[in-house]
Amino acid sequence: MQILVLNGPNLNLLGMREPETYGTITLSDICSEMDILARELEVGLTHYQSNHEGDLIDRLHQTMSKEAAVIFNPGAFTHYSYALRDAIAAVSVPVIEVHLSNIHAREKFRRHSVITPVAAGQISGLGSTGYLLALRAAVSLAASEEEGNE
Ligand code: DQA
Repeated sequence: MQILVLNGPNLNLLGMREPETYGTITLSDICSEMDILARELEVGLTHYQSNHEGDLIDRLHQTMSKEAAVIFNPGAFTHYSYALRDAIAAVSVPVIEVHLSNIHAREKFRRHSVITPVAAGQISGLGSTGYLLALRAAVSLAASEEEGNE
């Protein structure tokens, strides 16, 4: 089973970006932690980060033929990208939304996600642990969808 780990704008700067909010862990540290867990769970991961909405949409379209589930931190696009929301709705692959920070405890504009209504679920505020929990959830969701399709 292959799972896509998709990260949106500014997440390439993790480690140096607003460390009081996002911590000092880098995106490559998160990817390494996830790769270790993925080996344990016997699944493969594809990591992709982009600062561009269209690139993220293109990658979501490709997932239908490539991956069984997606773990997605859409960054600030979370709060206003109807185009990303529609891309998720268009692909029949479960998407788990992840945020390092607790978006519900931050500025008003961050408390609303246009992504959650089309996501399988949302994990917010647990730092990099959220990505690891999302990976466990993605594997079990994808496995039950596979069973349902048999
Ligand atoms: C974020 C929260 C967003 O509001 C913000 O724009 C980000 C990161 C998070 O992981 O906490 O870029 O998605």
